[in-house]
Amino acid sequence: MTNKYMYFVANWKMYGNLSSLNTLDKVIKFSKSKEIKGGRLIYCPPDTLISSFATKFENCQIGIGGQNCHESKDYGAHTGYVNCRMLKNIGAHFVIIGHSENREKGENDKLINLKIKSALEAKLKVIFCIGETLSEKRKKKTYSILSKQIKIGLNNIKNKSNIFLAYEPVWAIGSGIIPKSNDLLKTVEFIKSKFIGKIPKVLYGGSVNPQNINNLKKINNIDGFLIGGASQNTNKFIDIVKKTYS
Ligand code: 13P
Repeated sequence: MTNKYMYFVANWKMYGNLSSLNTLDKVIKFSKSKEIKGGRLIYCPPDTLISSFATKFENCQIGIGGQNCHESKDYGAHTGYVNCRMLKNIGAHFVIIGHSENREKGENDKLINLKIKSALEAKLKVIFCIGETLSEKRKKKTYSILSKQIKIGLNNIKNKSNIFLAYEPVWAIGSGIIPKSNDLLKTVEFIKSKFIGKIPKVLYGGSVNPQNINNLKKINNIDGFLIGGASQNTNKFIDIVKKTYS
């Protein structure tokens, strides 16, 4: 059993609509109960729902985040985008940056670095995603890829106290496959070894579910989980938190 302060981040990706708000009553109740122990819940719905989630979570401790942002801190002619000031303005406290689903569409480490800087300037906490692809893993490049993503992604950012890292191996996302416990322990240790002074929190993401959480929770250098599919089902999300603390 752990008593650690852990973060449970729900990444809803491009799912959810106004009727999804009804499913949150249960999680709000849970967040106010003793069962939550040392856990902090954070929801990252699509931008269209952030404002409604903020209203819904008004009287509880559940955090809210965006799933991406434009790199500019200023308003401008960027059709289809929102920046971090806008996210903050509608109630977000966090933003996910560098998710592999966006890296796959061409976001590179330099762009991610600009996005992280603009998020910090807007006083949002950043959930900075890193992770290797299956072919990089097969070529034994995991550590060099992670080093590069961290180095360029956090270039010229001195104060890292509002940055969480989320290690999400691309091959583990949505596949039902998770890394071997010992590999994951070592990779998280490697990520933390890249920092001097205050070590950022490191979350794990990729196929986290109520079945595998019993193994994942034993990896004692992980500070929380970034959960995709299973987080859209309130019962599963709550179950993951409860099992982490049981
Ligand atoms: P799944 O939990 O659906 O594998 O997604 C993980 C993820 O991408 C969270 O950001």
